[in-house]
Amino acid sequence: MRWDHATLAFYGLGAAAIATSVATVRRRLALSKGKHWSLSGHARIAKRLAAWVPACHYDEGRFFCSDDAPADFVDRRRAGFMRLAELFRTRFGESSARTAEMSDSISDLQFTNAYRVPFQYSPVVRQYLKVGAFVQASDGVKLADLDGNELYDLTASYGVNVFGYDFYKECIAQGFATVRVLGPVLGSYHPVVSDNVKSLKDISGLDQVSFHMSGTEAVMQAVRLARYHTGRSHLVRFCGAYHGWWGDVQPGIGNPVPAHETYTLKEMSEDTLRILRTRRDVACVLVNPLQALHPNSSPPADSSLVDSARVAHFDKQAYANWLHELRAVCSERGIVLIFDEVMVGFRLARGGAQEYFGVKADLVTYGKTLGGGLPVGVLCGRKDLMRRFREDRPADICFARGTFNSHPYVMAAMQQFLLHLEKPRVRDMYADLDQIWNERVERLNRRLRDAALPIEVVNMSSIWTVCYTQPSRYNWMLQFYLRAQGLALSWVGTGRLIFSLDYTDKDFAAVAERFVAAARAMQQDGWWWHDPAASNKSIRRRILKELIAHRLSPARGRSTPVG
Ligand SMILES: Cc1ncc(COP(=O)(O)O)c(C=O)c1O
Repeated sequence: MRWDHATLAFYGLGAAAIATSVATVRRRLALSKGKHWSLSGHARIAKRLAAWVPACHYDEGRFFCSDDAPADFVDRRRAGFMRLAELFRTRFGESSARTAEMSDSISDLQFTNAYRVPFQYSPVVRQYLKVGAFVQASDGVKLADLDGNELYDLTASYGVNVFGYDFYKECIAQGFATVRVLGPVLGSYHPVVSDNVKSLKDISGLDQVSFHMSGTEAVMQAVRLARYHTGRSHLVRFCGAYHGWWGDVQPGIGNPVPAHETYTLKEMSEDTLRILRTRRDVACVLVNPLQALHPNSSPPADSSLVDSARVAHFDKQAYANWLHELRAVCSERGIVLIFDEVMVGFRLARGGAQEYFGVKADLVTYGKTLGGGLPVGVLCGRKDLMRRFREDRPADICFARGTFNSHPYVMAAMQQFLLHLEKPRVRDMYADLDQIWNERVERLNRRLRDAALPIEVVNMSSIWTVCYTQPSRYNWMLQFYLRAQGLALSWVGTGRLIFSLDYTDKDFAAVAERFVAAARAMQQDGWWWHDPAASNKSIRRRILKELIAHRLSPARGRSTPVG
């Protein structure tokens, strides 16, 4: 056989194409191995499935027996539910009337109201258990609603409230006094900015600081800088981790467009380290240290509490080991390691997660509490990474602005916050923090166990999640029993309870008392009846069957009751 040049070139090209394809397939397979098996690990599939899920709601008949509970339990549930409805109507009347009046006009209110509980149960809950969204005062660890009820605050204002509302009122008042003469002048800096920058450099152990208006924006800027300096396209985030609502860090459900330059990988996994060691397109790895409480799971919310599969377990040493490994691989590969401490910064330790886990990041984002009660996002970083232009290529810049960044009032409230951190008693307080909260959780769990209640609290310092120890479709009802006991929760319900650090033992004892009373009442009302043969898996299978049946039903679209 004779080979001419054209044939040789043809075969050569073919061989090269095959080799390239094999390499691509291999890389693709490695990437797939780095994905978590859950839907949170598969953004595209999750989105497709979400678009498929039909709106099926239980009517009042099915609402109480979606698990086929015996009639006497169904009666108890119904009686308990109506008692709660009456209590909500009379005790929270003014607050819920204002909420109802506004709910047509505030889209956020409509959203949070709709997603307090799993969607199948939502219409009946919304009709009877109206939760007020308005409050008028805070005092110590309590909030006062429009009806004059005092509620223990278990939300900490999405984590902003670390040191107690009275402290932030003081930061704001003092801060306003400091900058009153300047007023809201933007574009120039008030001198308090230099104090803040010095403190932040000291706290973060990093060289430079930039100010933004929210945690989301600080994260955006961190990622943008990482891409600019590495010249690489992709960010790695870990399965389930929240980093604000910017599209690139929120692929999948909730984001109408695909995030093409984001890899969502498994946390605490050797597969992920392998990917980071081999890929050349990874600019940065984003870590939200709160995930240490439930690695690879989405932030727990009662809207997805259709069974008792929610799990959480905090192992500080194991997570610290993981961060050390991640640090080593990022250093080896020139990947920027970003700690997103918007939630945990200043809550776990003065030096945040870096100090708490003993690992240094290249860029760190802060926010929430750092504003001294006012809105803020902050990025601290290594000098070489924070630079937004190149001397040798003046047109190649990394742009970031924000009209309200470094707002004098925010900067002055921040200064008060940072001054507080330097007080010896605050430094001492951090030393005992974990022990205090672990003991409180242990005491409460003991009481729950002694009372044979199917609940367990799991914590990472002062951040809690409530787990449920036997299969049930109704765990989300606990949030309403807790509210009836005067405990204020955020719209995610029992998934995330956050305490401010000014809770005294006495305050905490009062909360624990109410917590146990709420769970007891829920048990007495029959919500935790369960078929001994049922498992979380069988509950989910049953729900899937209901959804399929509803999807295939000719009456679909008219939101027919399931049952
Ligand atoms: C870890 C983390 N990053 C970013 C954000 C977004 O911050 P913001 O709501 O201020 O935009 C949050 C908010 O909860 C957060 O917890």
